[in-house]
Order: sequence, then structure tokens, then C-alpha cells
Amino acid sequence: MGVLSAVLRRSRTGTTVAALTVGALVLSGCAGSSLDQSGGEQADGPVKIGLLVPLSGVYAPLGEDMRNGFQLYLDQHGGKLGGRTVELVSADEGESPQTGVPAAQKLVTQDQVTAVVGVVNSATALGLRDFFHESKKPLLIANAGADDITGARKSEYVWRTSFSNGEVAAALGAAVAEEAGGPVYLIAADYAAGKEMIAGFRKTFEAAGGKVAGEEYTPFGTTQDFQPFLSAIRGTDAKAVYSFYAGAEAVSFVKQYKQFGLAGDLPLYGTGFLTEGGVLDAQGEAASGVKTSLHYSTELDTPRNKEYVDAYRKAYDEAPTVYTVQAYDAAAVLDKALASAPGGGGEELVKALGAVGQVDSPRGPWSFDADHNAEQKYYLREVRSGGGGMVNAVVSELS
Ligand code: PHB
Repeated sequence: MGVLSAVLRRSRTGTTVAALTVGALVLSGCAGSSLDQSGGEQADGPVKIGLLVPLSGVYAPLGEDMRNGFQLYLDQHGGKLGGRTVELVSADEGESPQTGVPAAQKLVTQDQVTAVVGVVNSATALGLRDFFHESKKPLLIANAGADDITGARKSEYVWRTSFSNGEVAAALGAAVAEEAGGPVYLIAADYAAGKEMIAGFRKTFEAAGGKVAGEEYTPFGTTQDFQPFLSAIRGTDAKAVYSFYAGAEAVSFVKQYKQFGLAGDLPLYGTGFLTEGGVLDAQGEAASGVKTSLHYSTELDTPRNKEYVDAYRKAYDEAPTVYTVQAYDAAAVLDKALASAPGGGGEELVKALGAVGQVDSPRGPWSFDADHNAEQKYYLREVRSGGGGMVNAVVSELS
């Protein structure tokens, strides 16, 4: 393949591994895949797609889910998108823009990918926006919810198959205001996503008559001991807690919330990342009763979702997650867009992304809105035991 690339393959046990293939990086001249003589891409040649997800740091498990989701779509479609064989080039987003931005730049300038898919962290997404806008390369964000990415700083080159922080959080506000029976304490990881997950929730919560008992942000990526923060909550008149944590931080927070004895007294709410996938497996019983808002659950009772859950379990021997679905859907929209933009140039491809229409997703049908964000339903979920472990049971649709 002649360039530095990480090729995804699945082992016999179903685990995805990244095999780093170091080719003749400089010798090859680092040409993009299948350039024709005019510098455009051959419509039937292979297409290089960059996959930028965390392979290290607190969000590494989310990155693995996204890789698996993208790979599952490829496996189900003969390794092709838009009729072209995909050469997947992986790069490590790491934990912050300091690692994620140079990794994305390498994918575009050195590996010359046609589009980049991935990005977990909101701060990294914000740090990447201008680069993609100016390079005229499509970026399909398959997680990071930074509000401005499909708001004040939207770009014709940046699309999102996941959610915005404000929306997924706002979906829960009225329900908590109704259920909590008193003031609610707000706590989140101290970075862009945590701030927006609190702001979005607060808006609809307060509009529905909810009162805030206190608000706290914990150092992102370094907090292991949440006890000082949990005792501070005890010292307020809070009747419930709303939070944003994901990945390794969500595991520690929910387990310590239980160990510290808060779980019995103050119901815990959050956006669904708090109890999603491997995080929930690690939390086990400690997460019982936690209620969250999200646009997906493995428990969604539809034929499309059942088919997806079965296929995913068969491939990876574990349940899918919202992260696997967001990346699977990124592959689905690229499949459609590349089919109608055979030259694969940035301008042509983003035009085609604007015309993909409804996506038949395991989460339910969704489509891009005018700002390139996913327009979709959100669900109220509650952690209950089921099927030999804990699951996010779907309680109701949120409006
Ligand atoms: C984000 O930084 O936008 C983010 C990260 C992890 C999540 C959700 C949002 O699970």
C-alpha cells in the first residue's frame, strides 16, 4: 500500500486490532490513492478514508467501538463505499486537540485521504474545524457534540452523524424537573463537552421549573477520586444529580457514587454516555436505576436494530453501542455520497452529502438538518438488569 497506514482487521475471537503497516512512506511520494492523470480520483479505483479516533487516553474504548462500527459496515458491503474499495488509514486522536489536530493533519496532507471520519472529543472537533474548512476536505464527525460545529462555526465541509451536546442534554431537562422532587446538583467533566452538556440541560430543566442545587466541573482526564466532589453534593439540599461523564471517567464516577452511598438517596441522571456499552459492563450493579437521555439503546425494539445488534454481536462477541452506530452510519452516508460523487473531490463530495436524505439507522431513521447535524429522536433510558447483565431499557421517547 506504500504509505503509513493502520489496516483494521478482526481476529478470530472477534476483537478488532489495528495492524500498523509501515510502507515505503517517503519513497512512494505519498501519493493519494488512485489519482488519474488530471489529479482527480479514478471513479472506480480504491478510496482512502481516514479514521481519527482515540486509541489512547480516557476515551480509547469509545474509539475502539467506532472502529468496529465502521468496519462492520465495510464487512457487510464487500469492503466498498460507493462502489470503491476502501483503504482505511487510522490515526490516534488521543485525549485532546494537542494530539488530535496533528493526527488529522497527517491524514489529509500526508496520507491524502478523501475524507476523515471519527473524532470523539468536542475540544478536538473545535480545533479541527478551520483546518477542514480551509483544506476543503470533508470531515464526518461520528461523536464529538460541540454545539458550534453545527451552529456558529458550521462549515460546508463538516458533517455530524452523532448529536450536539446541547440537544442530547436538553432532551432530559423537563423529565428531571418533573421527577426530581427538589433541587438538582449538576456535575461534569471540565472541558467543552461538559460545559455544553450542563448548559443544554439547565435550559430546559429551568424552563420546566427545575431548581439547581449547585454546579461543579471536575478536572478532565485526571480525576480518579470523586469523593471530595461527592461529599460536596451531600452538603447541599440536592434531591437528585445530573452529570456528564463518558469512558473511563463514567466508570469511576458511577461506581464511587454508589460506594459513597449517594445512589440510595439521590437518583442519578445524565446523558446516555454515562452508562453506555463497556462502561455499563464495568459499572455493573452500581449503575442500576441511573436514567439517561440518548439517541440509541441496544434495547430499541425495532427489526432494524435487532438485525444490527445480532450482526454486531456475531462479529465482535459483544453488544454494540451508540459509538458503533454513529460510525456505522458515517460509513452508510459516505457509501451513498461516494456513489453519486465518483470523482471524490471535496466540493463534489459535500454536495453529495447534502443529498443523502434519510438514513435507515439502527437508532431509527434520521437525516442531516440544514446545519449538517443529525436530526433524530431521543429516548429516556433506565439501567435495569436484563439478559445476564445490565442494559439501558427504553422508558419513553423524549420530545
Ligand atoms: C465530546 O467531547 O463531545 C464527547 C465525548 C464523549 C462522549 C460524548 C461527547 O461520550
